[in-house]
Amino acid sequence: MTIFHSLFFLQSSLLLSLAVFAFILQWHDEINYQTFKSLSLDNPEYPSMDCTSRDSRTTSFPYFKDLKFGYNKSNLKPKICITTTTSDGLEQILQWIYYHKFIGVTNFFLFVEGNASIPHVSKVLQSIQNVKLVHRTKELEEEQAKSRMWNETWMSRYLYKPCNYELFVKQYLNMEMAIDMAREARMDWIIHIDTDELIHPAGTNEYSVTQLLSAVHESVDTVIFPNYESCVERDDIQEPFTEVSLFKKSFHHLDNETYFRNYNKSFRGNKNYFMTYANGKSAARVQPYLRPNGAHRWYNYITIPNETQFTEAAILHYTYAKFSYLTSRRERCGCKPTINHLKKCFFLDFDRDAFIIASSATEEEMLNWYHEHVVWMNKDLNQKLIKEGILTRIYAPMVIMQGLKDTGVYASLI
Ligand SMILES: *[C@@H]1O[C@H](CO)[C@@H](O)[C@H](O)[C@H]1NC(C)=O
Ligand SMILES: *[C@@H]1O[C@H](CO)[C@@H](O)[C@H](O)[C@H]1NC(C)=O
Ligand SMILES: *[C@@H]1O[C@H](CO)[C@@H](O)[C@H](O)[C@H]1NC(C)=O
Ligand SMILES: *[C@@H]1O[C@H](CO)[C@@H](O)[C@H](O)[C@H]1NC(C)=O
Ligand SMILES: *[C@@H]1O[C@H](CO)[C@@H](O)[C@H](O)[C@H]1NC(C)=O
Ligand SMILES: *[C@@H]1O[C@H](CO)[C@@H](O)[C@H](O)[C@H]1NC(C)=O
Repeated sequence: MTIFHSLFFLQSSLLLSLAVFAFILQWHDEINYQTFKSLSLDNPEYPSMDCTSRDSRTTSFPYFKDLKFGYNKSNLKPKICITTTTSDGLEQILQWIYYHKFIGVTNFFLFVEGNASIPHVSKVLQSIQNVKLVHRTKELEEEQAKSRMWNETWMSRYLYKPCNYELFVKQYLNMEMAIDMAREARMDWIIHIDTDELIHPAGTNEYSVTQLLSAVHESVDTVIFPNYESCVERDDIQEPFTEVSLFKKSFHHLDNETYFRNYNKSFRGNKNYFMTYANGKSAARVQPYLRPNGAHRWYNYITIPNETQFTEAAILHYTYAKFSYLTSRRERCGCKPTINHLKKCFFLDFDRDAFIIASSATEEEMLNWYHEHVVWMNKDLNQKLIKEGILTRIYAPMVIMQGLKDTGVYASLI
C-alpha cells in the first residue's frame, strides 16, 4: 500500500514535471518577458492565452488549461494572499513570489528587514503588482506597540527574549497587521509562511492552491498544511528551490505503523523526526476577529475556529539546505553558545546544536557535522525510505522555478 502510494506519488510528480516542461518548450519561443508579463501576471486580459485555439498538445494537459485560468486574476476565486517576515536576499524572494503567483496566490504582504529591505531590493519587489512591502520603521514599531497582543497572557512567555523569541513576537505583530491588509484587499484566505517555504498544492488536478482552497467546506475556518522537510543529497547546494527534489514527509501523511517501523532510520541521530519544526503552517479565512496564534496557526478572538488538515497538500520547508546557512546563523542574534543562554535564544534543539557547532568548531568539523546530521548521502538508505514512503521526490517546484527563470521574468526585473 505505501509502496504503491509512493510510486504513485513519484509518478504524478514526474507527469507534472513533464507537463510543465512540455509547456515551457512549447511556449518558450513565444514567451519573451513582455508577453509573459502581460499574459500572466500583470494584465489579466491578454487575449491569446486561449488554449482551445492551440494545437491538441496543449489541451491534452488539463493542467495548463487551468494554469491559463489561474493567470486571469479577475477570475481567481477564492482570493489568496501570503504574508511573511523576511530578511532574505532578492533572488530567493523573487523565486518565492513568482512560484506562488504561478500556483494561484494573488497578493503578498512582505515585512522586510535586513537584506530584503535595502533600497535596491525594495525597489524591485515593489514594482511587482500586488506585492506590498512594510519596512520595520519607527512608525511601524509605534503602531505595533498599541497591539492587543502585549496584554494577552498566552504571549507572555515569548516576550522580551532574544533571537527566535523576538522573531516570534515580531511575526505575530506583523501577522496581525497583515490580517487588516488582507481584509482591505478583500482577500478570502491568508497564509503565513517563510521565504524558505513553498506551498505544495498536491491533491488538486491543477496543482493550484486556488483549487485547493475553493474545495474546502464553508464551515471550515482554518486548514493546516503539514510540512515536509528538504533532504539535501549534496553539501554544495546553492539554490535550494531549484536543486532539491527529495523531501521527508510529515508523519500526518504517513500511516502510524510505517512511521514507527522506520522511526530510528529516519532520525539519522537527530533528536527529532524533523530537524526543525514539525507542526506545519496554516491557512485561515479572512474573518472578523481573526488573530494569529503563533507563526504556525490562526485563531479567533471570540470563537473557536473549525480547523482541518490537508491529507496531501503540504508546505515544503527548505531547512539548512545550504551549508552556508550554518555560518550565517552564527552571525545572527548575538547569542552566547552556552546551553542556558541558547534556551533563551532558540526554540528547537537542532537550532541550538547547529549554533554551537557553528560558533565553536573548525570549518572541517562543521562540514563533518553537516554531513552527519543534514546531508542524505547514503543512497541505499534513501531508496529504502523512498520505498517505505517516508521520503518522497517532488519535482514540481523546481520545474516551475526553472520555467519561470527561462522566461526571463527575473532578469528583466533586476
Ligand atoms: C478574465 O476574467 C474576466 C472576468 O471574469 C473575463 O471577463 C475575461 O474575459 C477573462 N479574460 C481571459 C483572457 O480569460
Ligand atoms: C546579505 O547580502 C550580502 C551580500 O549579498 C551577503 O554577503 C550576506 O550574507 C547577506 N546576509 C544575510 C543575512 O542573508
Ligand atoms: C493593556 O492593559 C493596560 C492595563 O490594563 C491598558 O491600560 C491598555 O489599554 C491595554 N492595551 C490594549 C491595547 O488593550
Ligand atoms: C467543521 O468542519 C467539518 C468539515 O471538515 C464539518 O463536517 C463540521 O460540521 C464542522 N464543524 C462545525 C462546528 O462547524
Ligand atoms: C502507533 O504505533 C505505536 C507503535 O506501534 C503505538 O504505540 C501507538 O499506539 C499507535 N498509535 C495509533 C494512533 O495508532
Ligand atoms: C533501531 O531500533 C532497533 C530496535 O529497537 C535496533 O535493533 C536498531 O539497532 C536500531 N537502529 C538504529 C540505526 O539505531
